[in-house]
Amino acid sequence: MTASPCILLTGAAGYIASHTWLALQEAGFTVLGVDNFVNSSPNVLPRLREIGGQPTHFVEGDVRDPAVLDRCFEVARPLGGIRAVVHFAALKAVGESVERPLDYFENNLGGLLAVCQAMQRHGVFDLVFSSSATVYGEPERLPITEDAPLRATNPYGQTKLLGEELLRGLGACDARWHVATLRYFNPVGAHPSGRIGEDPRGVPNNLMPYVAQVAVGKRPHLNVFGNDYDTPDGTGVRDYIHVCDLAEGHVAALRYLFAQQRSLTVNLGTGQGYSVLQLAQAYGRAAGREVPLVFAPRRAGDVAACYADPAQAHALLGWRATRGLDDMCVDSWRWQSTNPGGFDS
Ligand code: NAD
Ligand code: UFG
Repeated sequence: MTASPCILLTGAAGYIASHTWLALQEAGFTVLGVDNFVNSSPNVLPRLREIGGQPTHFVEGDVRDPAVLDRCFEVARPLGGIRAVVHFAALKAVGESVERPLDYFENNLGGLLAVCQAMQRHGVFDLVFSSSATVYGEPERLPITEDAPLRATNPYGQTKLLGEELLRGLGACDARWHVATLRYFNPVGAHPSGRIGEDPRGVPNNLMPYVAQVAVGKRPHLNVFGNDYDTPDGTGVRDYIHVCDLAEGHVAALRYLFAQQRSLTVNLGTGQGYSVLQLAQAYGRAAGREVPLVFAPRRAGDVAACYADPAQAHALLGWRATRGLDDMCVDSWRWQSTNPGGFDS
């Protein structure tokens, strides 16, 4: 192993990967990114150079294309060779996945398969996989532990569940594979520099980017999807986690894989649930203006409450989230208010 192992990030220009890129560099890793920009902007790359103060090694292309992945391994050779892969690249919009299920199966499962095949071709067997709390479906018990029953309720969720199973199967047949399956709860916030953050295309599906656009005046009000849930204030409760905490979780997972040479599956969440109203209020405090809201019907497929038991991640990785809801809102607002048009503004 070189002093500065090179990590391949797929989907590297995306929201979570771009923050992970910086966390990995800070931890002394070399990063090579690959992305086809299907849901991101190339303009993130100069920002990463600016914040990280290092060159951005990058290959543009689709991870389903074996030639693109072979090119990554080739580009990484002078960097010491790829030591592990963090596979973020995927389509992630639940509603869109119901409209275009085959595109989701093709991209998310086809991409995962192609990545594993390329890794095998090049003799690399350490993989971090971006999974999601969506694999728990409607939770039976809260907080959610990793041994909770798994079920997917939409094609996006199925790609994560099948992806996890595929990787478990691979590890069971071939002991060279070591996979860290990370089940993210609700990533929000932005890098404290305010230079990178979440930049959704079109109308945001997720709560915090929507609230951010209301606060900056792009949208008139937040539609609160349901206020009759069995939760303290009737609105949905989620485990929001600062994207920089999440990024550090990937560093911890890679260190675990390198040191332990064994697979693991962990929740990455804070363990604390907040309601839609609590988040909107916290955002209002961060932005110095109230977030106007309107109560709307429940959104199909939503669960009342979902939050992690993060104890396993702490026990195995020595990792825990350190940033609170106010940090998430302040950092999101810094990004949103200084980049109202996202990366392309
Ligand atoms: P994102 O859309 O910002 O990032 C994904 C990146 O992958 C994008 O840059 C996109 O262009 C790229 N990509 C997609 N398909 C590709 C392909 N075939 N080839 C090359 N690049 C491709 O999303 P994100 O929020 O950063 O999510 C990253 C990962 O985390 C995804 O796997 C997602 O399913 C998972 N995840 C996200 C959340 C969330 O709420 N953001 C929650 C749980 C899990
Ligand atoms: N919400 C609103 N108004 C909005 C958007 C969201 O009230 O405009 C509410 C939702 O009803 C929910 C909460 O805010 O109660 C959080 O919604 P998000 O869409 O931000 O997050 P979800 O937990 O519903 O979805 C996320 C990911 C999915 C993943 C799911 C389960 O976006 O990809 O977690 O892990 F499948």
